[in-house]
Order: sequence, then structure tokens, then C-alpha cells
Amino acid sequence: MITITVELGDRRYDVVVGDGARHLLATMISDVVPTAGRAAVVTQAGIPVDVDPGLPFEVFTVPDGEAAKSLSVVEALCRGFARARISRSDVVIAVGGGVVTDVAGFAAASFHRGVSYVNVSTTLLGQVDAAIGGKTGVNIPEGKNLVGAFWQPKAVLCDTEVLSTLPPREWASGRGEMAKYAFLGATGDAGTSGQPGASLLDVALSDQVARCVSIKAEVVASDEREGDRRMILNYGHTLAHALEAAAFGPDRRWDLRHGEAVAIGLVFAATLARRLGRIDDSRVNLHRRVVRGFDLSGDLPAGADAEELVTFMARDKKAHHDLTFVLDGPNGPEPVRDIEPAEVVATLAEMERSS
Ligand SMILES: NC(=O)c1ccc[n+]([C@@H]2O[C@H](COP(=O)([O-])OP(=O)(O)OC[C@H]3O[C@@H](n4cnc5c(N)ncnc54)[C@H](O)[C@@H]3O)[C@@H](O)[C@H]2O)c1
Ligand SMILES: [Zn+2]
Repeated sequence: MITITVELGDRRYDVVVGDGARHLLATMISDVVPTAGRAAVVTQAGIPVDVDPGLPFEVFTVPDGEAAKSLSVVEALCRGFARARISRSDVVIAVGGGVVTDVAGFAAASFHRGVSYVNVSTTLLGQVDAAIGGKTGVNIPEGKNLVGAFWQPKAVLCDTEVLSTLPPREWASGRGEMAKYAFLGATGDAGTSGQPGASLLDVALSDQVARCVSIKAEVVASDEREGDRRMILNYGHTLAHALEAAAFGPDRRWDLRHGEAVAIGLVFAATLARRLGRIDDSRVNLHRRVVRGFDLSGDLPAGADAEELVTFMARDKKAHHDLTFVLDGPNGPEPVRDIEPAEVVATLAEMERSS
């Protein structure tokens, strides 16, 4: 078992990664939420993971998919918590992927103005990203994740054993997020070794997860509320979000899981960074090799329309100014503001030519 601490002063907490980590739940809760007399377990019907909180508990299931991240589900959860007589000193336990930890975390942040919660993350994407960092929230018709709170968990358990039942596309999605981490972090794993992503790709799964968790933990600890530093976690995401948004259009031209879109976004970001003179060919090739190494494609989906994607990118709430991208450069990926839309369109055309 590997323990990584998210250093947030008196709100610091541990992320435990490894096969069987879920079995530490009862001990963990008595440690980090000693006041708890009851627990509310929030999960989904399709998740074959049982947990033992070591306390009397009630299970609340939320629907599958993004639809579960809604204010009405938060209301249903909070009403359920109230009926189960969950008090402010009790604990909410989220057992699931990013959808469950986002909605359960936000319900925990809101109920009694804040109840402790613990994440038992059951997807690869959740373990390397969504379960850590305290961003909780739900969607409204006007946009994804538009309503939420920063509310840190008391602990996170990333049990790599439970990933064995994860559907193939969910694995792919998590691997796309992992590919991102190959370019972040103090050691610059993929950047300095000359062996693209090799060190991350070559270690055991639990070590891969732990390495990604360490990078996320370090970034979150240095910038909890997303100034420039935390923005680097959105590497590859500006195009990814645009591809996801465009896919919701009436003719639904492609079907990409989030991490699959991030993989394309990484190659795009590298190609744009080269166009702007920030990196050279070898660094772009490194991005392509890492993405391939994670068994993903870096090519734009057929039918992608550059102008339309730029419109979606300009709307992305994470773009503080007109067009902001996290771009690789001599100091590694960092936010770059006020990119000309024409450069973006040209980069997309370049990608189409080379795919
Ligand atoms: N809060 C954050 O910092 C953050 C970061 C990244 C992503 N997110 C959010 O995370 C969500 C995506 O999360 P996700 O990719 O984990 O998807 P998800 O939570 O929808 O899970 C994917 C599917 O896998 C199923 N599943 C979960 N665990 C399983 C298991 N062990 N075995 C079999 N099936 C299992 C789920 O029921 C679901 O059908 C998005 O809503 C995104 O906005 C949040
Ligand atoms: Zn992501």
C-alpha cells in the first residue's frame, strides 16, 4: 500500500493506493472522523464494490452517468441523509467514479453546511484525478460543473483491485488522464528520461496510479483553488472539452470518453506549442508516443470542424481570457493566454494533415 498526503495544513489528508485499499475504510474512518456514529454510503447500482465503514450505515444509490450530477440528485441525497439522521459529526462515504465522488462530495459540502466525507474511488480516472483535490459539484443545463464547492475529503482510498471489473472504455478514459501526468510533475518523467512516458508506463498499475496521485496532490497543495498552478492539471483539456461539447450536438458525430478526448488534446497542445515556437519536433513526437503508449489515438475524429471547435474552446469556463491553453515549453506545461484563434485553426488543420 502506498500513502500520499495532500498537504493542506489542518485539512491535510491521505490518499492510500493499492490492491485491497478499500479494506482500510473502517480503520481510516475511526482515525480521521472519530466523531462519526453513522455513515451514509453513496454509490451506483452498477458498481460491484462492497465496503465496511465499521459503523451503522445506510446506502444511497445515484443514477449512472452525468445525469446523476444534478441539483435534484443532491436534494434527494440530502433528504435521504436527513431521514437517516446523519448529523454534522457523521460521515458520507462516496464509493464510485468521478460522477459519484463529485455529487456525493457536493452533497457532503452542503448538508448541515458541511459533513466529513471519504472517497473510495473505483475508476481509474477517479483514482488518478476526480477523487482527489476537493473540487465537488454538479451540472446545470447551462454547463458542466457550474455549481459546486471546494470541499476536501478526509481520506481517499484508491483500491486498484476493484478496477478489474471496469469496462474497457473506462480504462481507456483513465489512461488518457494518466498520459497527461507523464508531462507534469517535478521530475518531468517523460521529458527528461528520453524514454517517452516509459517510466510511468513500465511500472505496476498501483505504482502508476500512485505516481499520478503524487503529482495531483502536490499541485493541489500548492494551489488549492486553481490559480495558474492548478490550471496545469487541465493540460490537454481545452480541446478535449470542445470535442466533448461538439459531440453533444444534434448529429453526434463521435463518441469519445473524457480521457480519450484528453489524449487528442495533448497532441493538439503539443502541436500548437510547436507552432508558437515553444517546443521542437522531438517534444511533439514525445507527446504522440506517450499517447500511443497508453493505447490511445492522438488523431482528430473524422468530421471535426476547426471553426466550430474554436467557438467551443472560447466558451470553456476554464479559459479565463479569450483563448487560454496550457502549453508545453522550456519550463514544462504552463498556462498561456490570448492565443490567436487563427493559430488554433491552423494547428487543427496541421493535425488533420498529419493523421
Ligand atoms: N472533481 C474533480 O476534480 C474531477 C476531475 C476529473 C473528472 N471529474 C468528473 O468525473 C466524472 C467522470 O468520472 P469517471 O470517468 O470515473 O466516470 P463515472 O463515474 O461515470 O464511471 C464510469 C462508469 O463506470 C462504472 N463503474 C465505476 N466503478 C466501477 C467498477 N469498479 N467496476 C465496474 N464499473 C464501475 C460507473 O457506474 C459508470 O457507469 C465526470 O463527471 C467529471 O466531470 C471530476
Ligand atoms: Zn480530465
